[in-house]
Amino acid sequence: MPSADLPDIPTPPPPRPPPSGAARNRHPIPDESWPTANEAEGSLLFSPLRLASGLELQTRSWVPAMVPWRATNEGFVTPQVIDWYRRFAVGRPGVIVVEATGIRDVPSGPLLRIGNDRFVPGLRDLARAVADASDRQTRLLIQCIDFMGIRRRPEPRRFFERYLALRDAHREAVAAHDARVDVADDDAVRAALLAGGDALWTSALDARELESLRRGHRERVTDVHLPHVAELPEVLPTLFGDAARRARDAGFDGVELHYAHAYTMASFLSRTNARDDGYGTTLEGRVRLPLEVYRAVRDEVGADFTVATRFLGDEVIEGGSRLADAVWFAERFAEAGFDALSISRGGKFEDAAEPKIGAAVYPYTGPSGHACMPTVFGDRAPFGVNLELAAAIRRAVRDAGHTTPIVGAGGINGFAVAEGALQRGDIDLVGSARQTLADPDWFAKTRAGRGAEVVRCIYTNYCEALDQRHEAVTCQLWDRWAPHEGDAKPLAEGPVDRSSDGRRRLIAPPEGWRPTRSR
Ligand SMILES: Cc1cc2nc3c(=O)[nH]c(=O)nc-3n(C[C@H](O)[C@H](O)[C@H](O)COP(=O)(O)O)c2cc1C
Ligand code: SF4
Repeated sequence: MPSADLPDIPTPPPPRPPPSGAARNRHPIPDESWPTANEAEGSLLFSPLRLASGLELQTRSWVPAMVPWRATNEGFVTPQVIDWYRRFAVGRPGVIVVEATGIRDVPSGPLLRIGNDRFVPGLRDLARAVADASDRQTRLLIQCIDFMGIRRRPEPRRFFERYLALRDAHREAVAAHDARVDVADDDAVRAALLAGGDALWTSALDARELESLRRGHRERVTDVHLPHVAELPEVLPTLFGDAARRARDAGFDGVELHYAHAYTMASFLSRTNARDDGYGTTLEGRVRLPLEVYRAVRDEVGADFTVATRFLGDEVIEGGSRLADAVWFAERFAEAGFDALSISRGGKFEDAAEPKIGAAVYPYTGPSGHACMPTVFGDRAPFGVNLELAAAIRRAVRDAGHTTPIVGAGGINGFAVAEGALQRGDIDLVGSARQTLADPDWFAKTRAGRGAEVVRCIYTNYCEALDQRHEAVTCQLWDRWAPHEGDAKPLAEGPVDRSSDGRRRLIAPPEGWRPTRSR
């Protein structure tokens, strides 16, 4: 298949994590000059936007997906899931995107799921709670995800005894290492490999085997020798289409197809996708399945249901897709009819840190992970740091004649950075994840001219560390609230749900709180 030429667009440098071992520089949270209520009313941020699906967004504020780890082990909505989203809805953002939700009917631990009709009643309760709490001002999307198999990092003994498929190259390396080993005897070869340690492992194992030993085995979309991987293009359109239909049945306003970060669809889009079955290698091949999934979803839900996607403006890994690829994909997505394109950055397995034995690799621990959720410890301050990518994508989409709204995220933590990005035309919708986690009322306070009361996120990623351990995600600032300290009027609050160890609040304190310390 001939490949289209990539546009000649340089990729802006991503924010980089602090060098390990070096003293950490901490970028301060800048002071904001907040708008008056009148100024806020005249702003773009608090102006409405109508999507091509006909969905009316009351404002241009958008809460991107954040997994809070509150579903049951079977993937059902719990009262805690509902409390989590209800608390965001009280702040009345224009859009909330519900966390990455699995589209398959397979065990996935406490990940929310939408892979069977039995999940619909719980999701319906969730949609109703958000509509009620926001007085029907907040629109609700759900992020639909598929992911590949991944194992925890094994004990070396287990790896050599159980997982490694012996090859001649292993026998030859063992023979070269220790001529006394009987290399015709599998058990002896396995024992010799185990005993050989790092020096032997690096010479005997290929790159993929070494990765499985040091990080745990991880399937790739290029593993087409595995039937379930080869058939992804056959099964995924239906799985995504069915999930979107269930979202519609449950009362959601739309879906966001997760084509970003470390997951299946992002891997199809990646420059590293060397599948030679028409679903990889060239730009057209890489975008083929994402477009087929889109069409299956659209056929299922119709033109008046919102279908957005989140994908990467830059993978931030060696050999990965860069901004030019993203621009090319964005034009295809806009042409196909997506209602919104949400731009993220990085978040890949390829450069993630080695996990401890028994733990799974987490895609937000390497440089690409830092670019995805930048902290105040990086080489640059995180505030609006990923907007350049969204701006370049929006320009290209507009030049191609499409009006598809673009969502940008990454350190958007105040009115100036949000409104500035909208006024410059970098983005159409303001994605703010961690700032909204820290203070779910921040948009409402800003709109009311009470911006000085916004509790500012400190961008040190306590929440993300909890996500990494698959523990209930909370914000560290919520636990720094001493309700009576300095308050003219103590805030009323009923009993508070806490994490299983009793130490952390599970939702933000009621509107009007402030932390005792903000560092
Ligand atoms: C705890 C946590 C969970 C997240 N879960 C998801 C997710 O399910 N899907 C997704 O696309 N991004 C996820 N993200 C990334 C955010 O949506 C967002 O892109 C990122 O935090 C950068 O935006 P921010 O600087 O406004 O936080 C998560 C982020 C955090 C902190
Ligand atoms: S835990 Fe830290 S980084 Fe996360 S939302 Fe709270 S203040 Fe922000």
